[in-house]
Amino acid sequence: MKTLNQLMTMKQNNEKISMITAYDFPSAKQAEAAQIDTILVGDSLGMTVLGYESTVQVTIEDMIHHAKAVRRGAPNTYVIVDVPFGAVGLNEQYDLELAVKLYRDTQANALKAEGAHLTQYIKNCRNMGIPIVSHLGLTPQSVGITGYKMQASTKAAAQQLVDDALAVQQAGASMIVLEAVPSDLAQDITLKLDVPVIGIGAGNSTNGQVLVYHDVLNYGVEHQAKFVKQYGDFSVGTKALAKYNEEVKSQQFPDAAHTYKKQVLEAGEESE
Ligand code: KIV
Repeated sequence: MKTLNQLMTMKQNNEKISMITAYDFPSAKQAEAAQIDTILVGDSLGMTVLGYESTVQVTIEDMIHHAKAVRRGAPNTYVIVDVPFGAVGLNEQYDLELAVKLYRDTQANALKAEGAHLTQYIKNCRNMGIPIVSHLGLTPQSVGITGYKMQASTKAAAQQLVDDALAVQQAGASMIVLEAVPSDLAQDITLKLDVPVIGIGAGNSTNGQVLVYHDVLNYGVEHQAKFVKQYGDFSVGTKALAKYNEEVKSQQFPDAAHTYKKQVLEAGEESE
């Protein structure tokens, strides 16, 4: 498993860091087998696997349930777990208790929290020994305000994002995810920061890239953002299920090859 120090060294050596979301045992197993550096149990699971409209409905229990399965599937990969909407920004003591629960129950390597307003939370978690990845730019938990579009498109907003990135680093963030921002701005921020910057829709100058598993594999996805590249096609699953349905109805399945044969066993013989 990569350590945080190794991820820092990768940044210093200009070696790109790969990150993919995973939400369950098989997707985590695949990510680990593919030797992806880091797994994010994103609260995007609200849309990709739970069928919600946004990440806002996702609860801390949802995150714990899915992250535990991911940890079982990828015991040797650096796993980051999202702090869901509503689990931070309430009351310092309570927020910290939830962070400890999320970190401890899931055996995550780090938590990820959205927004530049969380500097105190980042400090508190760091003091407690919990590494925090800060998510800036387009933060889907605030989609009601930002919309799903490129962020920091004015000079003032770009400067604000640079200041925010420096502030979360100063507060103790161990890594930053930068979503849907112009690539030159992402490059500027990546160069200014000491900690690794992982981009999604932020060009190729960041220290690494993250994409959503279901986007990469076209798995039940209705809309692909401009920055998504599809590397596989799980939509074949629907065709396969339709074929299975047809064969059950037409009694082609199960055929002889998929049927236990009736046999009389002698004592000591084993059945197939
Ligand atoms: O929840 C998620 O999947 C994320 C990524 C899009 C970075 O936050």
